Amino acid sequence: MTATTTGTPAKTGWAEGWGLFRTLTLALSAMALGFLFAIGWDTEGYRMVIRATARTSLVLFLAAFAASAAFKLWPGSFTRWLRRNRRQLGLGFAMSHFIHALAIIALWRTDPSTFWLLSNPRSIATGGAAYVFIALLAATSFDRMVKLLGPRLWSRLHWWGAWIVALSFIFTNGKRIPVSGWYALPVTLVIAVIVLRVVGGRKQRRAAAP
Ligand code: HEM
Repeated sequence: MTATTTGTPAKTGWAEGWGLFRTLTLALSAMALGFLFAIGWDTEGYRMVIRATARTSLVLFLAAFAASAAFKLWPGSFTRWLRRNRRQLGLGFAMSHFIHALAIIALWRTDPSTFWLLSNPRSIATGGAAYVFIALLAATSFDRMVKLLGPRLWSRLHWWGAWIVALSFIFTNGKRIPVSGWYALPVTLVIAVIVLRVVGGRKQRRAAAP
């Protein structure tokens, strides 16, 4: 397999590189449309799409966020695949969150009273700020943008952006724990991946030390 300058696979199949991104986009769109046709293009349907995409976003984000550290700690064919496709997994997360945004807008337009029961100006401001970072991360996930920004600025943007998204997931799930204890599961998963990154970073520094 040939690779571009930043390690993105040039060869694509349905589970590789841009083929993987296409697969994720198709699967996410099919899931959202499936819920809307099954439940209805109404409050319940839009709420289901909002909740489902929040969960697919978490899985895709964690896969991209954990990829490099997982490979450092457990080099193998699955972790190599994760690391090789982390950019496409990250873009899959952005696509999932784009559908989250479309369903939120649909809910706000069709049923503003339910929308305002579930949201408030503060959550819109913090969620909106996270969306700015998600858009920046997605827009700069291409070789041309890496070159344009330079590796230092690009790394800083992606480091900060990823941490802001990770904290957003802890916050958005954590605030729902009083409603259901199940929301502790995603919070625990995000914290576990943060620990994984810290441990992976230490291992790399130890290996690089003279
Ligand atoms: C302006 C921005 C945003 C708005 C207005 C918004 C709106 C909503 C609404 C209304 C729900 C509740 C759906 C329901 O219970 O029926 C929801 C759920 C959720 N959102 Fe968003 N959201 C925003 C951004 C974000 C961001 C940036 C994240 C994370 C990175 C996020 C993660 C979640 C999660 C984890 C849930 C809970 C899903 C579940 O029940 O499992 N949201 N959002």
